[in-house]
Amino acid sequence: MNLVDLQTPCLLLDKTRMLANIRKLQDHLKAFEITLRPHVKTAKCPEIVNCMFDSPPGPVTVSTLQEAEQFIKAGYRDILYAVGIAPDKMERIVSLGRTGVDLSVILDNIESAHAVARISQKYNHRVPVLIEIDSDGHRAGIKDDDPFLIELGKVLHEGGTELRGVMTHAGSAYQHPGQVALRAMAEQERLAVVSAAERLRGSGLPCPVVSVGSTPTATFVEDLSGVTEVRAGVYVFNDLIIAGLGVCEVDEIAISVLATVIGHQHEKGWILVDAGWMAMSRDRGTAIQQVDQGYGLVCNETGEAYDDLIMIDANQEHGILALRSGSRASTPELPVGTRVRILPNHACATASQFDSYCVLDECNHIQEQWDRFSGW
Ligand SMILES: Cc1ncc(COP(=O)(O)O)c(C=O)c1O
Repeated sequence: MNLVDLQTPCLLLDKTRMLANIRKLQDHLKAFEITLRPHVKTAKCPEIVNCMFDSPPGPVTVSTLQEAEQFIKAGYRDILYAVGIAPDKMERIVSLGRTGVDLSVILDNIESAHAVARISQKYNHRVPVLIEIDSDGHRAGIKDDDPFLIELGKVLHEGGTELRGVMTHAGSAYQHPGQVALRAMAEQERLAVVSAAERLRGSGLPCPVVSVGSTPTATFVEDLSGVTEVRAGVYVFNDLIIAGLGVCEVDEIAISVLATVIGHQHEKGWILVDAGWMAMSRDRGTAIQQVDQGYGLVCNETGEAYDDLIMIDANQEHGILALRSGSRASTPELPVGTRVRILPNHACATASQFDSYCVLDECNHIQEQWDRFSGW
């Protein structure tokens, strides 16, 4: 099957680029004695995550219990559910854990700690728990020097759960472009969890796992002393946000949306395509970066980017392509029926608009179609 045979819009996955992205991070992290626990929320597709491991499959991170269930079905046995645990999900967690799967949860508050302790006692099943540490003020977690950390650790350890360790995610790395700044973010991420782990151990509490990670920090980290595992997800595809941070090149982005030109507004310099925000997602993550890529950067059918041609606006099923403002490039001739590939701002958000990947080989032939799941 060739690209011309596809109905548009559809989601393309350049397998060669994806395998190179996987290898690049693995090679970088080989220098450290840590486990890589990829975040599967980007791919939501076991065929893709299987490319990261020799069999048997290794440890993964998930952001929904749907991901946990799908990956358990695919043979995965070591799963970290890395969104603060809600009490109503506890029964589902325990029933998965009691099948022999190592499913750990995270939390940062006393209510959740008591809820996990209660359910662990009720089913005589020690739910593994990591305490979430706030390393950058980005989102959730408690500070590593918060006196409450020890109390939380005691409630978990003495309450019947398994206190597995500490974790953090330096989400604000996404606001710090460039190698130097991201290296500093990685060190800040490391220092916070290592210090939290030392405080727990100093109080006689167990803390075997010390977990960090995001794609920008994992890519540039130089020191992982005291850390036992690294999580990263979006590196498998990369995207324009990651490229805008200086973490990858545009030609390392492995997914794109294939679209067809459906018309023009020549006097406005517009080219219309049959992919709008329903295909690209509403994510405008590059709007706050130095180079705003609109709803996506436009490439030809074989994946080479046109100079300065972006999706400047998007309706539900219409995308408007034009040169970015101030560009001196000339608008390419793209007659009705021309196929283009549009690189996404945010790979996770764009991929989630589709229920399968059209997997391309290096000759741009469709090798396979891989299903992608969604839901919680
Ligand atoms: C808890 C956690 N760990 C790891 C990651 C992976 O980070 P990235 O998407 O930068 O690869 C995320 C992403 O949101 C996350 O929320």
